[in-house]
Amino acid sequence: MTATFRIQRYNPEKDEKPYFKDYTLDNLDPTVRILDALHQIKWEIDGTLTFRRSCAHGMCGSDGMRINGRNALACAMLLKDVNTKKPIVIEPLPFLPIIKDLAVDQTDFFRKYEMVKPWLIANEPPPQMERLQSHADAELLMESTKCIMCACCTTSCPSLWSNENYLGPAALLKGFRFAFDTRDEAPEEHMTAMDSPDGVWRCHTIFNCVEACPKEINITWHISQVKKKLVSLEL
Ligand code: SF4
Ligand code: F3S
Ligand code: FES
Repeated sequence: MTATFRIQRYNPEKDEKPYFKDYTLDNLDPTVRILDALHQIKWEIDGTLTFRRSCAHGMCGSDGMRINGRNALACAMLLKDVNTKKPIVIEPLPFLPIIKDLAVDQTDFFRKYEMVKPWLIANEPPPQMERLQSHADAELLMESTKCIMCACCTTSCPSLWSNENYLGPAALLKGFRFAFDTRDEAPEEHMTAMDSPDGVWRCHTIFNCVEACPKEINITWHISQVKKKLVSLEL
């Protein structure tokens, strides 16, 4: 099949503003991924096209981008799943500053991630074997551990678009993952950042994040659990 890719291009060193450029590929198999098409464009038509990718298997989270108006991983979307009768519009993730073409600056995204202290706080020396927890306790965390930090959720959140200081769903999900870990010895340290005016209370259950998540994580549910816990703790 034939498909045209309308890709947003922008080199801040020489372009005044972003613009779109069309690339048409022929003889494509419907099962190729959008990432495969981007590779073909880069390797065979225009080597200056810039985008991030690494694993190509939905594991590293580096190729989040906007495809036909929806945040998604280019390696997890097949050509047969998009409308090829019109050009397939590919843009960088919204909200974050563009470094070049489809590559965005994720500094702010990771700064907010660090604010929830996304690590296990354990002051006691480790036991000889491992820190144990029950199956039920591990099960509670399971879904949140699937996050690959692709930023598709956070950059799709209207609450962030209207308040750039909002921590965003990805950081809050990580906060949940450690604050609700029964092996963590200082859950309040994760909770403090989440209980700020720019923390969980900025989530207005809009659900864009859930729709965008390539790992199908119900992020909104996790944020609601943090809210419930904060209310019950009356911190
Ligand atoms: Fe990506 Fe989902 Fe993690 Fe958000 S929660 S960063 S969309 S994997
Ligand atoms: Fe934003 Fe998701 Fe909440 S889109 S408002 S973080 S439900
Ligand atoms: Fe790693 Fe797509 S390239 S998730």
